[in-house]
Amino acid sequence: MKVLVTGGLGFIGSHTVVELQNKGLEVIIIDDLSNSSEKVLDGIFAITGKKPIFEKLDLKEKSEVEDFFKKHTDISGVIHFAASKAVGESVENPLLYYENNIGTLVYILKELSKKDKASFIFSSSCTVYGQADKMPITEDAPVKTAESPYGNTKQIGEEIISDTCKVTPSLNAIALRYFNPMGAHPSTEIGELPIGVPQNLVPYITQTGIGMREQLSVFGGDYPTEDGTCIRDYIHVVDLAKAHVIALQRLLEGKNDDNYEVFNLGTGTGSSVLEAIKSFEKVSEKKLNYKIVDRRAGDITAAYASTDKANNILGWKAASTLDEAMKSAWDWEVKIRK
Ligand code: UFG
Repeated sequence: MKVLVTGGLGFIGSHTVVELQNKGLEVIIIDDLSNSSEKVLDGIFAITGKKPIFEKLDLKEKSEVEDFFKKHTDISGVIHFAASKAVGESVENPLLYYENNIGTLVYILKELSKKDKASFIFSSSCTVYGQADKMPITEDAPVKTAESPYGNTKQIGEEIISDTCKVTPSLNAIALRYFNPMGAHPSTEIGELPIGVPQNLVPYITQTGIGMREQLSVFGGDYPTEDGTCIRDYIHVVDLAKAHVIALQRLLEGKNDDNYEVFNLGTGTGSSVLEAIKSFEKVSEKKLNYKIVDRRAGDITAAYASTDKANNILGWKAASTLDEAMKSAWDWEVKIRK
């Protein structure tokens, strides 16, 4: 059984490749290396003892996508991570995001629609809910107008898949709405490698802890939350990776109730920015230099997942605590800066 992982050298992609290989599935990775490195293959090999097949391919090139699927006729499932993910950059350059995140999705779905049977897993985001009215957020919460072109590509992406599935019974798809992925593989062989100044909280914390950054700015201390800082649902990337394998197996084994399904992937627990900092200080035994500054434009007050649907239907539950995930992020940071 061959599984194609697009963006398989990226943060969540590489951890998912490991879990797929651990389950005995044969993996082909395609990646354009725009935000990743071939060295990640060595990390995957160090963990699993198996090197996945890798092809450098630009999914924006339609003919390359067509040729790839002509060559690899035995692909039964695709996990599609390849996408751009910087919210701020998407505001500056929306067309880049529509081309990278939507154009490529259409090309892949076109190829999968030609097959007698195909399974497709899509990387979506809790960003589709915007500031939800109720916590925890269930999958039937309304999708709100996107705050950024990036968020819009996740909403449009889901609609494209849903529309395609309606007219393509041979195509089975699941969209996974991630909350806030963090952490690294406990082996410290693979982890997050943000390019430039991290936009996300956890890599900014660990880079500050290691001395690469002077100070963490906590964006806003006057939110209507217990300690005034925003609440998010931080999920260990290994838990997230395992959920992808379970979702794919559900489709490959034909256990899905519908040919398009949506699941939240979170822990169900909300943590504030100050709680994340406390967790870092506990697991690293270091004091973090931080300062509360103005709010960041576009941030929502709180988002954490209802995990009931994933628990009950996928039989999946996040196993790691915030401290465990933070410890893995810190161990990774320490290792890569040695
Ligand atoms: N934060 C800081 N300082 C920083 C970075 C972040 O205080 O230097 C705060 C943010 O204000 C927010 C929390 O930490 O309250 C988490 O911020 P992240 O940037 O790590 O994550 P977001 O929740 O903003 O964004 C994530 C993904 C996006 C996705 C979004 C959906 O990174 O891709 O969730 O809500 F769109």
